[in-house]
Amino acid sequence: MQKKVLVTGAAGFIGSHTCDELLSRGHQVVGLDNLNDYYPPERKEANIEEIRGSDKDGNFHFIEGDIRNAADLDAIIEGGEFDAIVNLAAMAGVRVSIDNPQLYIDVNLSGTLNLLQSAHKHGVENFVLASTSSAYGDTDTIPFVETDPCDRPLAPYATSKRAAEMLAYTYHHLFGVNATCLRFFTVYGPRGRPDMMAYKVLDNIFFNTPCNIFNNGEMWRDWTYVADIVQGVANAAERPLGYEIINLGRGEMVKLADFVALIEEITGRKSNLESAPKIDADVERTFADISKARKLLDYSPQTSVKEGIENFWAWYKTSVLEKSEV
Ligand SMILES: NC(=O)c1ccc[n+]([C@@H]2O[C@H](COP(=O)([O-])OP(=O)(O)OC[C@H]3O[C@@H](n4cnc5c(N)ncnc54)[C@H](O)[C@@H]3O)[C@@H](O)[C@H]2O)c1
Repeated sequence: MQKKVLVTGAAGFIGSHTCDELLSRGHQVVGLDNLNDYYPPERKEANIEEIRGSDKDGNFHFIEGDIRNAADLDAIIEGGEFDAIVNLAAMAGVRVSIDNPQLYIDVNLSGTLNLLQSAHKHGVENFVLASTSSAYGDTDTIPFVETDPCDRPLAPYATSKRAAEMLAYTYHHLFGVNATCLRFFTVYGPRGRPDMMAYKVLDNIFFNTPCNIFNNGEMWRDWTYVADIVQGVANAAERPLGYEIINLGRGEMVKLADFVALIEEITGRKSNLESAPKIDADVERTFADISKARKLLDYSPQTSVKEGIENFWAWYKTSVLEKSEV
């Protein structure tokens, strides 16, 4: 059955792929984004144009707006008759959040509050929140299971996301809002964020931009390809589940040094990374137990890290390298 979904952060990396996926399933999508300059807004505008380009049925509508603006947001949701809200809008940099914690609380927590209030007020059936593996903090217990304690976040970003998960619980408890909090694990792929490792390594190789490798690459991440993640996001948008926290990862750890070596192998070029010590806001390893996602969301990641990097590299060649030569 066709649903109408509000996707916040629609112009961003995961948001734009989420819009594509929901549209391909025949849903109506309203995308909202403030097109901020955390990375070049032209990239976000290009993402919106790509969504428009593949929207054959005229089911996509974009609104430039800010989730911190409660009144504007409420007017959009009041008139929207949405079945679901997928809140992907956020300030997403872990390390940057240390220097600007207020912004992270304003957008990631207060922005989520504005959405939850309007969702409740206007009877939106389902609310999906982008959360993060950072909620787990530094833990020795792997893989990460949703029932693990998450009360020691290492950076304001992680705190803001964990607090938003808890706020969603409160709205579920008090008002019956269905809320699914999805903990994403290091997502990469086409339209990726320029501040993330895969992108930075390619920029280092082809533009000689500085890029640190922390702890000599002795860090482990559950790298998850974006097309896999958005299957889980779209399934969550279609299925009200009460209140749930669900990991979305690939369910496999790959060492950072090996990830970089794979990029070098696939591009046939050497990077020139600068060694840097591990910083306090970074966890040493992330590794998702995805059995709950498999059960509740029929989530089944298909893309190997090698295949994912090959796809990312193909996108980078046409969307970054070739454009820079013009
Ligand atoms: N990429 C990852 O590995 C990862 C991992 C864990 C969680 N997440 C979460 O997934 C979501 C999407 O992340 P992404 O990697 O696509 O990042 P992104 O920065 O590409 O996308 C976020 C989008 O939100 C928009 N935005 C920011 N503040 C806004 C505001 N006040 N009002 C409206 N729009 C606003 C930005 O302009 C951007 O387009 C975020 O909530 C992020 O915290 C991402």
